[in-house]
Amino acid sequence: MKILVVGSGGREHAIALAVSKSPKCSELICAPGNPGMANLGKCFPVDVADPKAIADLAQAEHVDLAIIGPEIPLVAGVVDEFRARGLRAFGPTAGAAALEGSKAFSKDIMKKYNVPTAAYETFTDLASAKKFLAEHPAPIVVKASGLAAGKGAVVCMTDAEANEAIEEMLGEKAIFGESGKTVVIEEFMEGEEASIFVVCDGKDYVILTSAQDHKRVFDDDKGPNTGGMGAYAPAPVVTDELLAEVKAKIIEPTLKGMAAEGKPYTGVLYVGIMVTSKGPKVVEYNCRLGDPECQIVLPLYDGDVLELFDAAEKGEIAKLGTPKPPKGSAAIIVLASAGYPGSYEKGKVVTGIDAAEAKGVSVLHAGTKMADGKLVTNGGRVFGVVASGATLQDALDTAYAGAAEVKFDGVFYRKDIGKKGLARLAK
Ligand SMILES: Nc1ncnc2c1ncn2[C@@H]1O[C@H](COP(=O)(O)OP(=O)(O)O)[C@@H](O)[C@H]1O
Ligand SMILES: [Mg+2]
Repeated sequence: MKILVVGSGGREHAIALAVSKSPKCSELICAPGNPGMANLGKCFPVDVADPKAIADLAQAEHVDLAIIGPEIPLVAGVVDEFRARGLRAFGPTAGAAALEGSKAFSKDIMKKYNVPTAAYETFTDLASAKKFLAEHPAPIVVKASGLAAGKGAVVCMTDAEANEAIEEMLGEKAIFGESGKTVVIEEFMEGEEASIFVVCDGKDYVILTSAQDHKRVFDDDKGPNTGGMGAYAPAPVVTDELLAEVKAKIIEPTLKGMAAEGKPYTGVLYVGIMVTSKGPKVVEYNCRLGDPECQIVLPLYDGDVLELFDAAEKGEIAKLGTPKPPKGSAAIIVLASAGYPGSYEKGKVVTGIDAAEAKGVSVLHAGTKMADGKLVTNGGRVFGVVASGATLQDALDTAYAGAAEVKFDGVFYRKDIGKKGLARLAK
């Protein structure tokens, strides 16, 4: 099969790497890709927000299956565009991707199908939202309903913060534009978070693994939020018992509900949960693999990732037989540019990738480019260094040994990735 991977981050590099290893892949192309992906297949420029442009490329290149990495094209209807042209793309339709594209829609689905989640109300006008806040003191969570690049959820520990968040979304500033014109205000949940990655074909599903990411920029969860500084999988907090509960109370009712709504879910369903004292509750759904979690979730799959995505797109997951549990553990350390997530410099020359890979890691590109024949930094998150191992400790040791080899001016990374998981395993 000729495969097109859409996207340009570490997640898409990981997808391209997994696909390139499949005997079913005869040719790989990427759009727009990055310098790491360029080592695996030819890269074509494309606007990922433009479903028609992506489908045009797939048609011109006679692609058999497109795998869509980011949420923006999915929510914009790239899969619908492919299907309308008789082309194949792995991912949810726009109607199904609304589980991520509209938090108001996803909360309504959870309510309708009895999926445990935080109590909530939806608002479109400032006065009613303010009245609600006056009656519901902090801590409380205010969320822009639409896509906001991970910046639209505000956990408010004081009433003043909650009022400010509401003003910013529903007031004149409208800092999230259309995405913030509908707002979900929800109950604050306490607990440990984890993510669960599920490949769905509209009726059947395969759980890949659980994972935990690290959003804060500095060790011990200090400093501002980032796109993710590292992750590990599986997450020890997600025991077999908890996973069984997540299947029965969250995954199955969600998939049945979406099918009943006439929006059968095909693609990766990312279920973000909070493990509360009353059991697992959904924090949010995403309609694609996470970044950086994808980079560790795919290597743990004990099978052919392309075969799985291909079967899911065809509605044939059942034909694959019982999936095996993930083998061992994996970890990713994100190498970032000094100053990230604030302003940072670009164009720093990178060395040491071969030395890192000699330690047994994969160095996945997230923010790089080629300039005058040299690999240079071109983003806040520059690389993800990924390792697998028999245990979480093994995976972390290898990943850190690899991370230490990659050099560029201003490189920094968290030194405590996986600490929570190791502590839980030690108990
Ligand atoms: N109801 C809640 N209670 C406590 N924390 C929450 C709640 N909802 C979200 N959060 C926190 O905010 C983060 C971002 O919220 P999320 O719904 O995942 O939005 P997004 O990823 O789209 O920004 C979560 O990972 C979690 O840490
Ligand atoms: Mg989230």
